[in-house]
Amino acid sequence: MHDIAFTVNGNPERATVPATMTLLELLRDRLALTGTKEGCGIGECGACTVLLDGNPVTSCLMLAVEAHGHAIETIEGEAVGGELSVLQQAFIDEGATQCGFCTPGMIMSARGLLHRSPQPTHEEIVEAIAGNLCRCTGYEAIIAAIELAATRLSSPSTNKREGRLP
Ligand code: FES
Ligand code: FES
Repeated sequence: MHDIAFTVNGNPERATVPATMTLLELLRDRLALTGTKEGCGIGECGACTVLLDGNPVTSCLMLAVEAHGHAIETIEGEAVGGELSVLQQAFIDEGATQCGFCTPGMIMSARGLLHRSPQPTHEEIVEAIAGNLCRCTGYEAIIAAIELAATRLSSPSTNKREGRLP
């Protein structure tokens, strides 16, 4: 067993975990953060995407012990005080979520993109979500939602609680 310390959505966490536990299991089974989904379990669908120090990772392929000393962001960190994030609202406004299974991973990949490129090109968006599979929407609405969120976040009138974006 290994003692690890890390943050999730800015909150300090500690856990004692077996060497074989995945980050996905740690989030869902130990911390009850079930917004992160398990699809394939082998790194191919992106449903389990979370951010590690701001960068998207597939949490089904990452060991929990590798989170030690790092900052994890999950879909639960998007809405604050019951208010949806700009990204979440844009997904609703563009009809970019249907069954919703892929949506947490999509939004975390989009969040990672907006961290590193606040005004992404169409091509950058396509590349950023290339590892996230969606069986419902056909992707165009998802791409439009990310473009809409980037536009809204660049507006001076956008709620500045999302000042976490560069
Ligand atoms: Fe992790 Fe599919 S569940 S990539
Ligand atoms: Fe159903 Fe994407 S909305 S898989």
